[in-house]
Amino acid sequence: MKVTVVGAGAVGASCAEYIAIKNFASEVVLLDIKEGYAEGKAMDLMQTASLNGFDTKITGSTSDYSKTANSDICVITSGIPRKPGMTREELIGINAGIVKSVSADLIKHSPDTIIIVVSNPMDTMTYLVHKTTNLPKNRIIGMGGALDSARFKYRLAEALEAPISDVDGMVLGGHSDTGMVPLTRLATRNSVPVSAFLSDDRLNQVKEDTKVGGATLTKLLGTSAWYAPGAAVSGLVQAIACDQKKMFPCSVLLEGEYGLNDLCIGAPVLLGKNGIEKIVEIELNDAEKAHMKESAEGVSKTNGLLEL
Ligand code: LAC
Repeated sequence: MKVTVVGAGAVGASCAEYIAIKNFASEVVLLDIKEGYAEGKAMDLMQTASLNGFDTKITGSTSDYSKTANSDICVITSGIPRKPGMTREELIGINAGIVKSVSADLIKHSPDTIIIVVSNPMDTMTYLVHKTTNLPKNRIIGMGGALDSARFKYRLAEALEAPISDVDGMVLGGHSDTGMVPLTRLATRNSVPVSAFLSDDRLNQVKEDTKVGGATLTKLLGTSAWYAPGAAVSGLVQAIACDQKKMFPCSVLLEGEYGLNDLCIGAPVLLGKNGIEKIVEIELNDAEKAHMKESAEGVSKTNGLLEL
């Protein structure tokens, strides 16, 4: 199993590190445009192998896509991250050009690859990869819902004063401050609905804190987060590499599911060796459906800014 991670910045390096630590991939190639940077990160990470107990071989490359040839999975993290006060949507101008050329270069060397898009605005960048490559829809996956759901579980555990392993929940919709749809109604603590423990007001607070999860970190860090994004990507990569058929909310091209068409947005999918093996349609109530529709309108508006 060969995995390429394009972009050796904080998210890309975290992603490579978590993949390696889980020890399921034979090879991870890190690639960056900054001379020597990916090689340096790869060497530093390889020097943790004996300490952290993994055998995954990590190599780095400065813009040489031949090194990525025959990758089973390629992760695109390249582009600029947001600064405090910026929305993810404001990054579209620069990142669209980068994601378009990176995906073309990757596919040239790995025509059978599965692509995971991390660059922001993520749903629109995932849609761009659909529009500009000929890859089938099961092989293009946007990483957002897995991260947003992890942040949701963190906030739920905090409100419940419970360990995170007691908590389950999902966030659907767009990966944006206004677009996320945290499903508080379906969230549980050991299969008991969380509404049995938390007031409506507290649950609303959890929802709002989840939606601005990325922005809160950007304000604290001065740039966007990397540990949870890297861990979320590694979870998706592992589900595919190990053919787990695991369910994650991911940005996926919808063709009628959830009453939505011609956009990529967060919906639950099953991930296995073929990438997206199924889009899972769960029953939403009227308020959740309305929230999804509003979220989709926001994503479509951003998609309209793409020069296709
Ligand atoms: C975040 C970025 C990766 O939410 O979108 O942290």
